[in-house]
Amino acid sequence: MALPELDRKRLPHHIAIIMDGNGRWAQKHGLSRAAGHEAGMKSVKAIIRACRELGSIEVLTLYAFSTENWRRSKTEVGTLFRLLSKYVALELDNLHKEEVRITAMGRLDDLPSRAQEDLRHAVELTASNKAMTVNVALNYGAHAELADAARAVARDAKLGMLEPESIDESCFSRYLYLPDLPDPDLLIRTGGEMRLSNFMLWQLSYAELVFSRVLWPDFRKRHLYLAIAEFQSRKRRFGGR
Ligand code: IPE
Ligand code: IPE
Ligand code: MG
Repeated sequence: MALPELDRKRLPHHIAIIMDGNGRWAQKHGLSRAAGHEAGMKSVKAIIRACRELGSIEVLTLYAFSTENWRRSKTEVGTLFRLLSKYVALELDNLHKEEVRITAMGRLDDLPSRAQEDLRHAVELTASNKAMTVNVALNYGAHAELADAARAVARDAKLGMLEPESIDESCFSRYLYLPDLPDPDLLIRTGGEMRLSNFMLWQLSYAELVFSRVLWPDFRKRHLYLAIAEFQSRKRRFGGR
């Protein structure tokens, strides 16, 4: 099937994706949830490549593990972090060659130590790459991010480094996890659910939201292009006329 035509001059700068539907994909195919997550890694690879090819996408943020996902079984949580390490081992060299910078956001100190080490290595190795940023949200929750920011603001105010009167939107946003990334202009959620599940509540205020019924392990370049085409068909007003 042909890819939808995209206006290359109006691509989103920052695409954020809630990668959902691995479990349902596995069930549909009579496989274990672990197999669903494994299949989802193929989509991660395909979508990073597709964004990289488009050229002017600056940031791709992938929601990989939420602060609520600890509610899943120990086995499933273990599988998810093992897959993260496996992915880093298999793909890091390629990503580095492609000039991709890797960043991570979330309460990273609470991740299993192996995952922390692999992530730190990937982030350090690719820190000065300029072609595109792949940002992984891990043990991420927007409520946690906002609470962490508020705590840091209060600490600085108490130390006399910050006047309470000077705390405005732009000052506060400097305390979020990765303040130098532009806000997402396109949010895609796969898997058919229409909710944000505690994802980037501050940064998504004016993002265009696109919900796809395609389960994440089936999500490929064509579906990404459809979502971008939908984004390009929207009239963005930002509260103006
Ligand atoms: C998304 O797929 C992966 C993570 C949340 C880590 P799910 O595992 O949530 O898949 P469904 O929603 O059960 O189909
Ligand atoms: C959102 O998916 C989190 C990630 C994709 C990492 P969930 O499957 O955890 O969200 P809910 O439970 O359907 O809201
Ligand atoms: Mg889900």
